[in-house]
Amino acid sequence: MKDKTGIIALQNKLLSWYEKHGRKALPWRNLDKSKNEAYFDERLSGINRAYGVYISEIMLQQTQVSRVLRDFYFPFLAKFPSLKTLAKADESELLKAWQGLGYYSRARNLKACALQCEAEFKGVLPRKKDELLRLKGIGSYTAGAIACFAYDEAVSFVDGNIKRVLSRLFKLKQASLKELEELAERILNKNNPFDHNQALLDLGALICTPKAPKCGLCPLYELCEGKFEPLNYTKNKKTEYEKLNLHALFITYKDKIILEKSKTKLYKGLYNPILLEIKPENATYLGSFKHSYTKYKLEVKVYHKRLKNKEKHKFIALKELELLPLSNLCVKALKLLNQARLS
Ligand code: ADE
Repeated sequence: MKDKTGIIALQNKLLSWYEKHGRKALPWRNLDKSKNEAYFDERLSGINRAYGVYISEIMLQQTQVSRVLRDFYFPFLAKFPSLKTLAKADESELLKAWQGLGYYSRARNLKACALQCEAEFKGVLPRKKDELLRLKGIGSYTAGAIACFAYDEAVSFVDGNIKRVLSRLFKLKQASLKELEELAERILNKNNPFDHNQALLDLGALICTPKAPKCGLCPLYELCEGKFEPLNYTKNKKTEYEKLNLHALFITYKDKIILEKSKTKLYKGLYNPILLEIKPENATYLGSFKHSYTKYKLEVKVYHKRLKNKEKHKFIALKELELLPLSNLCVKALKLLNQARLS
């Protein structure tokens, strides 16, 4: 299959499948209006193609297509329509636009990357993979994806989806990234790298799925070496989670609340309730919830203390909360506080 005829067969089958079943209408695949007007979304008028692709790829690194599409992509681009606006962005506003997407270092890196582009690349995203790799927050996959999807460069790359497709196709257990990148390069269709790579992503997301792959519908079924035991070729190392118990304390005075702007790596720049390792004294217990954050599995118990005097604390008016970047943990804990205040 790795010979020239096998590879050409694979490329053709993949592209025919993409024509019929691929997610060709995704907005970040249609940023160039002149290429396919029918798929162009008017909300993206004036958005530079490379910039629109860049934002989509960063969002999609850890968040599902459906959520990015439903809640984040268009509002973010409306607020920050160019690298220039990103370079000038206020960090708090940037984090607010990213609220809910998680992995907030991604948002901070956007600004750092925009500043780097201004300093080194005349304010535009460069087109070559090796130049893109120099930018903050851009690794091998993202550099390849931007070069290809924004500039039609004939480059290959490997993300989690493509890794799964290649591992099954070539019956590889625990292949190194280097091996997978070499295979991706070998099968790359240099005549149509854009559709080829988008098709690989779609195949991984729609057919060659982690737990129950739909091999019967796969265009590469005949060529696939791993089709009889697909699950054998995708065993990932189990993520090791750390369990943590946290106590979240809200202190209020009239219609004001104390929130802390985090300085730690975990939530830098985001607002949280006061987080404690031990149970606070003289506070009402409001309830608990489970919360996952990066490698942590948190059990969060929420408490409320009402002050009679303002004392010396720095308070925030409750109605200002919607303007601040809040951690997801904070949003969940606030729900318990609101329920308690309303009941
Ligand atoms: N995940 C990462 N990049 C993507 C893209 N261009 N389309 C769909 N899902 C993706």
